[in-house]
Amino acid sequence: MAWITDTAQKDGAKFGTDLVNIPHRMGESGLFTDEALAELIDSYPREYYMLTTMTPQGERQVWRNGDKGDLSGAEVLQAIKDGQLWLCLRRFDIVAPMYHQMVQDAFGELEASNPGLKTFKHESSLLISSPGARVFYHMDIPMIALWHLRGRKRVWVYDAENKTHLPDISVEGIVMRETEEEIAYDPEWDKEALAIDLEPGQVVSWPLNAPHRVDNFDGLNVSITTEFFTPAARRKYGVYYANGFARRHLGYTPKSAAYDGPMAYAKCAAALAIKKLGLTKARERAMQCSFKLEKARFGEIVDLAPKERWNIQQA
Ligand SMILES: [Fe+2]
Repeated sequence: MAWITDTAQKDGAKFGTDLVNIPHRMGESGLFTDEALAELIDSYPREYYMLTTMTPQGERQVWRNGDKGDLSGAEVLQAIKDGQLWLCLRRFDIVAPMYHQMVQDAFGELEASNPGLKTFKHESSLLISSPGARVFYHMDIPMIALWHLRGRKRVWVYDAENKTHLPDISVEGIVMRETEEEIAYDPEWDKEALAIDLEPGQVVSWPLNAPHRVDNFDGLNVSITTEFFTPAARRKYGVYYANGFARRHLGYTPKSAAYDGPMAYAKCAAALAIKKLGLTKARERAMQCSFKLEKARFGEIVDLAPKERWNIQQA
């Protein structure tokens, strides 16, 4: 089965460079019904999922990590439908091969009809989130394709080149994994942003590192998010990593964040070497579990006292 319609194929050339908003047919796979999702949740190992709760739209942004406790997959799904939760099932390539293959096939179709398009290092996750849930303003290191499947949501996309909204030092901190991918945000910026309303059966992608945020509307929201790299995305990553290392460890203020040309390639090589030597490990962030779900207290977010909290290891 083809996941991308013929008429949409030509827009695939813009993946990696521009905004893409085209139809897809993954919803027809049968992999996203309540039953299929419940089964998938039941099969997920702790080190590959993240469960989060966030303050409602309009309130100060707080984002907390939790555990699904003793809930079954079907109960987790119900808790998401009723609550203010966000579940991310990571790394299809390892945990959910059928889902992974579908995404790989879709990228294969796009690359087959767009010879200039080269993508690699695909990592897909399933996002299942509550009506009204939101994802705060942030940027992602890789390129993103968001395959929307159920519910309705609005994705706000901001200018990737605006250094006031997204200073280089913030990008470096994210690339070096010192901070969560959240960055300073001012609602005023919405005036210049692109608001894309997503219906099931649409896939969107935006320019590399463009900050974005998401407001869910109604219904249980289900999307696949695929991280991927293009050659330019990989070079930009290397440049910011090397610049971030220079600024933090060598006391040197980087003069250029250009990711074309010989200097960019040299910085990429330096970034790889720094990572291999583990020189920045100590600054990388930890994820603390501060709530759980519980059958006996269904419908609640059960807070963990500070001494009961633990660090969630992600593989
Ligand atoms: Fe994102």
